[in-house]
Amino acid sequence: MSNQTNKIMSVIGSGTMGNGIAHVFAMSSNIEQVFLVDLNDEILSKAQSIIRKNLDRQVNKGIFSNSDSNKFYDKIIFTTDIEKTNSSNLVVEAVKEDLDIKKNIFSKLDKITSSQTILATNTSSISISDIAMATHNQGNVIGMHFMNPVPVMKLVEIIKGKNTDNSIVKRTLDYVSSINKIAVECNDSPGFVSNRILMPMINEAAFTYMEGVATVDAIDQIMKLGMGHPMGPLKLADLIGIDVCVSIMNVLFEGFKDEKYRVCPILETMIKNGKLGVKSGEGFYKY
Ligand code: CAA
Repeated sequence: MSNQTNKIMSVIGSGTMGNGIAHVFAMSSNIEQVFLVDLNDEILSKAQSIIRKNLDRQVNKGIFSNSDSNKFYDKIIFTTDIEKTNSSNLVVEAVKEDLDIKKNIFSKLDKITSSQTILATNTSSISISDIAMATHNQGNVIGMHFMNPVPVMKLVEIIKGKNTDNSIVKRTLDYVSSINKIAVECNDSPGFVSNRILMPMINEAAFTYMEGVATVDAIDQIMKLGMGHPMGPLKLADLIGIDVCVSIMNVLFEGFKDEKYRVCPILETMIKNGKLGVKSGEGFYKY
């Protein structure tokens, strides 16, 4: 492994995924500093309290001490200034699933960071090669797809764009093992592997409920107890966010032009009614 110590990491976007990624970076002894960038102080202060709360969960379980927790937290610089990412070894973008917004960020990162910086996106389904087009150095752009909740889930799905350099893939794999996660590689294709398989299952669970085949609870129990899933598909949809599930289904539908990826109408209605899952206080369940 190349020298992976004293590294500087940056994360753009401090929502559920972004704050989780900053959290796990900060826990690594190989990483010296983590910049967590978002648009305003209000959003950043919410991220500060979520990271604190999630670190406390781990302290309470005896995973590390309170003083380690403070040490990890102190490594994170919360900032609205994207220019602060200029000395990063790796930047992970984790903003809204919108190609234009992502391209705008990558175009800025392309100017700010060095030719050695890995520019990763945590997109859950948008093409890595399309995002890379916003940069001059497309070889440095890679998909680094973390799973929710980031501090708990072991996997990072690594997606190679059409032009991603092999040396960048290798360095990214090293970083993933240095944060104690497991990287699994795949190629750039709509939904990659994880969401191409997961989202149609969630969508089908929504159809099953809409058609009155069973209650929300029964559907989740059947999949939990019968298939050994840690949580049922409708509860998982609430955790991921109904809006995120629909946006991924749309990427699959547009990418494959196949009716089998049509979005279940009940999911669209839930979005219209503000029922986005855990983050809005109600989805298939109330929180
Ligand atoms: N930070 C730190 N620790 C956390 C945490 C967080 N954000 N969230 C949960 N935990 C810890 C809990 O403290 C608990 O620890 P112990 O078991 O050591 O006590 C553990 O994780 C389990 O949590 P809970 O006891 O609260 O609840 P649970 O047993 O029901 O597990 C779960 C919760 C880990 C979320 C589990 O249900 C699970 O694995 N669910 C499936 C999650 C999944 O499929 N994620 C992938 C979604 S897809 C995705 O993210 C990609 C995409 O693009 C959409």
